[in-house]
Parts: sequence; C-alpha cells; structure tokens
Amino acid sequence: MSVDWFEDDSLWKLMEPVLFTEARLAHTPAEVDSIKSLCKILQEDTILDMCCGVGRHSLELARRGHKVVGVDRTRLYIEKAITNAKKENLDIEFVQDDMRTFYRKNSFDVVLSMFTSFSYFDDHEEQMLVLRNIYSSLRVGGRFILESAGKEILARIFMRQNWSEWPHGFMMEEREPIENWSKMHNKWIFVERDGSVHRWEVIHWIYSGSEINEMLESVGFSDVRVFGGLDGGPYDNEATRLVVVATK
Ligand SMILES: C[S@@+](CC[C@H](N)C(=O)[O-])C[C@H]1O[C@@H](n2cnc3c(N)ncnc32)[C@H](O)[C@@H]1O
Repeated sequence: MSVDWFEDDSLWKLMEPVLFTEARLAHTPAEVDSIKSLCKILQEDTILDMCCGVGRHSLELARRGHKVVGVDRTRLYIEKAITNAKKENLDIEFVQDDMRTFYRKNSFDVVLSMFTSFSYFDDHEEQMLVLRNIYSSLRVGGRFILESAGKEILARIFMRQNWSEWPHGFMMEEREPIENWSKMHNKWIFVERDGSVHRWEVIHWIYSGSEINEMLESVGFSDVRVFGGLDGGPYDNEATRLVVVATK
C-alpha cells in the first residue's frame, strides 16, 4: 500500500532544518503580532494551532499568556514542541492527530493554519472535511486564519527547478502545475552529506484567492477577508502570501 507523502516521517525529519530555519524561528514573534492584529485576538481567547509543527506559533502565543492547543500528525515535531514548552514552563496541550479527524466542538476563539499546512489531500472532499472540522471547533464569532502560497503568486514567481544547500545536505526541487493549475506536482530529491539520496513526490492543491473564499463560505464562514501577506496588504500583483481570515 502506498503512503501519502505527508505521512512519510522521513520527509518531515529531513525537512525539519529546511522548514524551521533560525531565520524563520526568529521571525515568529513578528508573525504572531500580525496574527493577533488580523484576528483581533483578545487576552482570554483560546487558540488552536492546527498543524503546529515544532510549535513555534503555539509557544509564542503561550509566552504572551494565551491558552493554546497545538495539533500535528508528526510525532517527532510534537515531541520537540512538548520539550520546548517544558523548558520554558509553558502550559500548552500538544496533541498528535490528523487534521481530518481532530475537532473539538465550539472550543476555540481562533484557529491558525500557518505556513502552507492546508492543501495536502488529493481528494477535494477531504480538504473540505478539514475546513468543516475547523468550523466546528470554533465558537460562534471565532476567527480562522489560513496562510499559504497562493496560486496567483506561484504563477507569477514560477520556477521549474532549483536547488539549495543545507548544513545536512542538498535539495533539488522540480515543479509542475497539474490538473489545469489545480495542484502543484513537486519532485524533491534530498542528498545527505554521507551520499544517501531521498526522493519524494509532493502533490498539493494550490488555491486562488477566490477559490479559497468560496470553500470557506460553503462551510458556513462569513466575513472572509483575503490579504496578500501577514501585514494585511491587498491580495494583488505584489502579494507575497495568500492570507485569509474568516469568521464563524
Ligand atoms: C509546513 S509545516 C508547518 C508547521 C507550522 N504550522 C509552522 O508554521 O511552523 C506543515 C505541518 O503539517 C503537519 N501535517 C502534515 N500532514 C498532516 C495531517 N494530515 N494532519 C495534521 N498535521 C499534518 C506536518 O507534520 C508539519 O508539521
């Protein structure tokens, strides 16, 4: 039986230093400032960090006194998040679960999906299931923020191939938009310094501003606002990220 790419622990293990670079970790407090402002987060709000990874947003929100639950499928990341929270004596609940199955009815004021963590499931209905779970987990009036690479941006900056060097090896990436620009097909090759080679095919949905807006409205969200970055600027030709804030 073939395993979906996002269920391959070896991918997340090797990608950890690529995803969570010093620079990205250092930028997290500024991201949290923007999230708090875009979602109008109040001190007493309870926050769900869906696909929390190693917990960079969860930790920063908890440092600022918020009650946070972080959910992620990858055990390695959840363990790191728990260790980091313990080091700082932060009271955060981290749960190892899948975004298709996790929900807690009417339990959160804000849900985050940061850094392209939504869009992984081949079947559109599974994508919608994730949105329904998030909607169900929010209290009435709760806000959902999704931050991702938008289709219009990817089309504008499209690069078929590139490679990059990391302390633990080299990464080669090849991309192809498929299914009429519905999805991106990425071929990743990672060569470790000892010569071991890892290959993955990573296929994920790419959404336009209007597509994601429609999906959110169809599960019941209202006041869907689309931005071109966490700074809250317009989603226009200069947008750097697709950021959507929607209200239950
Ligand atoms: C690009 S990382 C983003 C992590 C975090 N949101 C951040 O901004 O640092 C994507 C995360 O999604 C998690 N993930 C992948 N598939 C998942 C699933 N089916 N359910 C829950 N988490 C999943 C991965 O383990 C990974 O931590």
